[in-house]
Amino acid sequence: MYIEVNAYSKTIKGVTVLDNITCGFNRGRIYGLQGKNGSGKTMLLRALSGLIFPTSGSITIDDKHLGKDISFPKSVGLLIENPSFIGRYSGLKNLELIASLKGLINTDDVRKAITSVGLDPDDKRSYRKYSLGMKQRLGVACAVMEKPDIILLDEPINALDPSGIAYVEHIISKAKHDGALIIIACHDSEELNLLADEIVILAEGRIISKELVHHERI
Ligand SMILES: Nc1ncnc2c1ncn2[C@@H]1O[C@H](COP(=O)(O)OP(=O)(O)OP(=O)(O)O)[C@@H](O)[C@H]1O
Ligand SMILES: [Mg+2]
Repeated sequence: MYIEVNAYSKTIKGVTVLDNITCGFNRGRIYGLQGKNGSGKTMLLRALSGLIFPTSGSITIDDKHLGKDISFPKSVGLLIENPSFIGRYSGLKNLELIASLKGLINTDDVRKAITSVGLDPDDKRSYRKYSLGMKQRLGVACAVMEKPDIILLDEPINALDPSGIAYVEHIISKAKHDGALIIIACHDSEELNLLADEIVILAEGRIISKELVHHERI
């Protein structure tokens, strides 16, 4: 699994939101997107998930041209900004509904994903009664439950308490170990340094630096 972004630019209503982005992403690695508000992190994740088209340039996933050969990555788990779940359904029912679209996983897998973010699959509360952090946790569970090859997470630790952050860290490390390609947008550079193998720093839609993170064992 290899994603190649080639001179990708996106202009919306005269504003260049992604500017000549060239970078590559490999399986079994965690990438961090860092940058100020409005620097293009979410836009790049949207581009990688096939939700926007380039004004120029391209993205290929295992040599398949996104938007031409394939409309979307074949196996992708996505958490971009606020996930839209059905307010009157429980967390379990929401994820079961989404899982039924592809039919790749069963109820047991859905329950395990919910447990893996520290939520209770038997919680009967409807989603609208969830707290902000619980909603975020459910969004992460939804993104990873089908064990996709590519995991794109936009600010996954927003609104999470320390225990929620620990669950997400564990999930991400496990997915990496299982060979997933993971890209996380996050403005908390400390958190990214802890999690990511490589950090891509964006400013005004451009890549201003790429850094390898050296994890020291103590
Ligand atoms: N729907 C849209 N239409 C036009 N421009 C947009 C749209 N959404 C975002 N933008 C612009 O795209 C640029 C990049 O925004 P983006 O959401 O990718 O930033 P970000 O790095 O994710 O910021 P944040 O840290 O606030 O999440 C900004 O200039 C923003 O104004
Ligand atoms: Mg964003």
